[in-house]
Parts: sequence; C-alpha cells; structure tokens
Amino acid sequence: MHVVKHIAVIPGDGVGPEVTAQAVRVLAAAAAKHHLSLELETLDLGAEHYLRDGTTLPSGELRRLRTTKDAILFGAIGDPRIADPRYAKEILLALRFELDLYINLRPVKCLDARCCPLKRCEPSDIDFVVFRENTEGPYVSVGGVLRRGTADEVSINEDINTRKGVERIVRAAFDYAATHGNCKVTMADKANAMPHAHDLWQRVFREVGADYPGVARQHLFVDTLALHLVKDPAQFKVIVTNNLFGDIISDLGAALQGGVGMAPSANLHPGQVSLFEPVHGSAPDLAGKGIANPIGSILSVALMLRHLEAPQAADDVEAAVARLFPANLLPVEVGGTATTAAIGDFVTACV
Ligand code: IPM
Ligand code: MN
Repeated sequence: MHVVKHIAVIPGDGVGPEVTAQAVRVLAAAAAKHHLSLELETLDLGAEHYLRDGTTLPSGELRRLRTTKDAILFGAIGDPRIADPRYAKEILLALRFELDLYINLRPVKCLDARCCPLKRCEPSDIDFVVFRENTEGPYVSVGGVLRRGTADEVSINEDINTRKGVERIVRAAFDYAATHGNCKVTMADKANAMPHAHDLWQRVFREVGADYPGVARQHLFVDTLALHLVKDPAQFKVIVTNNLFGDIISDLGAALQGGVGMAPSANLHPGQVSLFEPVHGSAPDLAGKGIANPIGSILSVALMLRHLEAPQAADDVEAAVARLFPANLLPVEVGGTATTAAIGDFVTACV
C-alpha cells in the first residue's frame, strides 16, 4: 500500500454523483482529522461517456486502476437512456471480475428503531455481515442460447463454482469471525436441489471450518435462511454464500436496515485495490431531487478507510452516521425529511 493513498472516484449515473459527493466530503474530513494523505481522481465513466463514444470501461483503465490505485469509491451505474443490460455489467461486473474482488462484504446493521421494518425487533437484533462470493456463480455468463426467439429456444447460464473460489470466500468469512469474537458462521446454499455445485460448498465449509475450532458453524438452505432472517435476525453474525444468493440476501438485509440506501458494501481483494459502493443502484427517478440517501455511500467510505488501514477514521465515520438519528436527521427513505446535503453536512461536521 502507498504512503499517499490513491483513490479513484467513479460517481457514475443517476443518484450516484449526489451520494458520492457527500461521501467524498466525509472522506476528506476523516482523512484530515487522522492525517491521512489522499489523492483523489474522479473518473468520467457512465452514461454520458457511453452515449458520447460507445465505450464503457476503456481498455487499459483496469490495468491502470490495478497498478496505481489503492481504492475505488463507486456511486452507481444505470441510465434509462441505455436499454442494453450489458452496459452496467460491463462496468461494475468487469471491475469486480478483472480486479478479482472476490469478497463482497455487505454489513447489515440497523441503526435506529425508526429504520427497522420488523415488529417485536430491537435495532440491536439486526447486526450481521454477509460474505458474498463475487467472482463466480451464474454471474460469469458461461452459457448460450440455441434457436433464440423460437418455440424451441434453449437458454443456458451455467453456475460456476470452483474449489479455489469457494474456499477463499469461506476462509474470508471464518477469518472475519475469528477476529470478531469467534462469532458463528452460517453458510447458505441449495444443496438439496443443486447437489453437484453446492455439495462442494458443504465440503469446503466443513474442511475450512475445522481450521477454526473456536468458531461455531451452521448450515441453512438459502430459502430457510431468508425465512429466519425475517423471523429472528438476531441469531446471525456472519453469513457466507454464493454470488447470486448473496445478491438476494443482501437486499433482504438492506430492507432490515431501513432500505437499500442505508446499506454499504466493500468489494475486496485483501492487499490489492478494492472497490467500495452503496448497495443501491442509480435510482433515476430520485436523481436531481436532492433527497437520495447518502448513508450507504458514506458507510462505504468507512469500509474503505478500514481497507486503507485507518480503522480509527473508519470508526469515526460510523459513529458520526449513528449520531444522525438522535439528532432526528432521518433520510427521506426511512420517512424523514433530511436532504442528501443535510446528511452530508452533519456527518462531515461530526467526524
Ligand atoms: C448489486 C447489484 C448488481 C449485482 C447488479 C447491478 C449487476 O444488484 O451490486 O447487488 O447483481 O451484483
Ligand atoms: Mn443487488
């Protein structure tokens, strides 16, 4: 890691630039307080660029990011003027795959009773992390289509699971549990319906888990996990699962926090450039209104600071966000009236 930390900022589309602007202010305040030197470079990637010249991620850009940056702060990608679903995939999924960001860490923490959608549930009952595998599964687009558009069409997307890929995400989850009070790790798969690929997950989970005798293991099929996450979320601390199930479970988790705008994420490859982004998308209907919730993006900055080995700065950002609620500065997403900028002002001042 460099002494000066080099950060690429990709605000992207829709509400991406609005929330990222607030996250950058918070990042600058935390860096100043903790004497971190940061060099930020904003990249013009997204819809405007694509509509101008048809390119998504220019060739050479991935290598430049890999070799010259420590972290990427990402807003959101997606624009109603671009119908082709490959557009967003080519930017976000290319970054995840080509930078080999195999851990998608998605913490789920409910910060206030007014954010909690469940009855008979205290905010403190909702506090777990999802380790989503981020480089395999059906996301790699291995497959094809035969006789497209006919009554005899055959469409195939393979579910790719490699021993190395499964092992490294499962190990990351156990490492996290071991360094966070030996909390329980829950692995979710669908081995009852997908016996080949998901039996690999079961075997790896047992084998890797044996290296962590102090960490309790639990296995649940993913449908049962979804049920228990709503009925009794307090029992979960670390959840590890594949790319597709992790995508779905982390949206459920975002709902338990108050909404998709509350949820941060880190796309990690320890020791290498990693990418930090709110879980939400570009939400074009909210763009330009000044009411998008920047908390997910600001909390992603905390995850970034931890990756940059500035844990106290990360703690400060999280503590500053927590102070929004006693101050009654609730985002519109959870029924409040605080604007994007008002939330950014408050958190920047509190850091
Ligand atoms: C997410 C998103 C992406 C995903 C989409 C935009 C491809 O839903 O980050 O959760 O499925 O990973
Ligand atoms: Mn998603």
